Amino acid sequence: MGIAVPATYVELADLALARGVAPGKYVDGLGVTRMCVPLEQEDTVTLAARAARAALESAGCAPSEVGMLVVGTETAVDHSKPVSSYVQGLLGLSTGCRVFETKHACYGGTAALQMALDWVRSGSARGKKALIVCSDIARYGVGTPGEPTQGAGAVAMLVSDQPRLITFEAGKTGVYSKDVMDFWRPLYSKDALVDGHYSVQCYLDALEGAYRAYQAVEADAGGARFYSDRFAALVYHVPYGKMSRKAHRHLRTLDGDPAPDDSFDRLVGSSLVLPSQVGNIYTGSMYLALASLLGTAQEDLTGRCVGLFSYGSGSCAEFFSGVVQPGAQARVKALGLEALLERRRALSIPEYEDVMRARERLDERPAADAPGTGFRYQGTRDHKRIYVS
Ligand code: HMG
Repeated sequence: MGIAVPATYVELADLALARGVAPGKYVDGLGVTRMCVPLEQEDTVTLAARAARAALESAGCAPSEVGMLVVGTETAVDHSKPVSSYVQGLLGLSTGCRVFETKHACYGGTAALQMALDWVRSGSARGKKALIVCSDIARYGVGTPGEPTQGAGAVAMLVSDQPRLITFEAGKTGVYSKDVMDFWRPLYSKDALVDGHYSVQCYLDALEGAYRAYQAVEADAGGARFYSDRFAALVYHVPYGKMSRKAHRHLRTLDGDPAPDDSFDRLVGSSLVLPSQVGNIYTGSMYLALASLLGTAQEDLTGRCVGLFSYGSGSCAEFFSGVVQPGAQARVKALGLEALLERRRALSIPEYEDVMRARERLDERPAADAPGTGFRYQGTRDHKRIYVS
């Protein structure tokens, strides 16, 4: 696994004061402390490339070992050329690699992951690995209710028949999909539009449908009084921390638990440490929560089963599960994710508003030399996006 976030963030308490809102509403009411905001040299491609390189490095995997690269995103940079092709070029992946992009709101990364798992299990991979990258910049209009639920970042995962973090259980998935208009982004808009409270209800309906579908393929609660206690932890899609709390309350109510909040800290708490510092990163949100669980949980999860719930507006959702592998928690801790977040710089609210305005024109900005190191977006030349590594 590899994770990339922008080097800058906004403090939610500062944003609340600037919007005339009590800071408690954003920090406690929504459960978000900070949200990442990218500067102009960072976009979905550079975040994806940085996360992908980190994943390859942490696994000691050579680019030639990758036989499939899929980028799940809903904030792509081109109507035709996929983000994955830019990433292939920046990372120097082989020409024998199958490269494409998937989209279904926040579910796009899970669609890619499930496809990669089946590719590996079927034998078609013939020893190659799949590189799955979830990369997005979550953006709502300034001053809208969605504004405090923005964020940006990417999570990359290597999928192989020798998993070092988690073994996803074959066939143990429950899917729920339904055509709803809860959240969308018209072709002419850079900002997402959302029917906020309705989207929360759609999420909960989808959770119920996917959870019931999972139980239909795995009826065994493993002797637990409440079904979800068969899991050592639950990882929900996290548009903001409070949504995970609502999700867990709903799931435990479905289990028949008369005190549905009591298990929250035990089963969910560790998965929210990193998301509360980053915000919504759409496709990568649930995988950031998984990294948070593996990187911050105090208890030994080795050999234990974890339940995961992925939701993409529109909608498609999936509840699935995996078993934590020996050494997984030490490997994720070694990524130094909390230190990575500490190194970021806070933006003042006027700086953040300038960044949001500049983003409007970023896709047409003439390419200029960009100082600094690492993958950077320089602008466009002859209608082509220019990146440097
Ligand atoms: P809002 O209407 O401004 O907020 O927007 P609210 O009035 O519902 O208040 C939020 C919470 O703060 C409430 O808690 C208040 O009680 C509490 P709740 O009742 O929900 O438990 N509150 C306070 N708490 C402490 N101190 C205070 C205080 N004041 C109020 N002083 C909304 C909230 C989430 C609707 C908005 O931010 C929004 O539209 N966000 C974007 C949509 C979204 O994230 N939806 C989530 C489900 S859909 C999804 O997850 C898919 C998605 O990731 C996209 C994709 O799939 O690609 C979004």
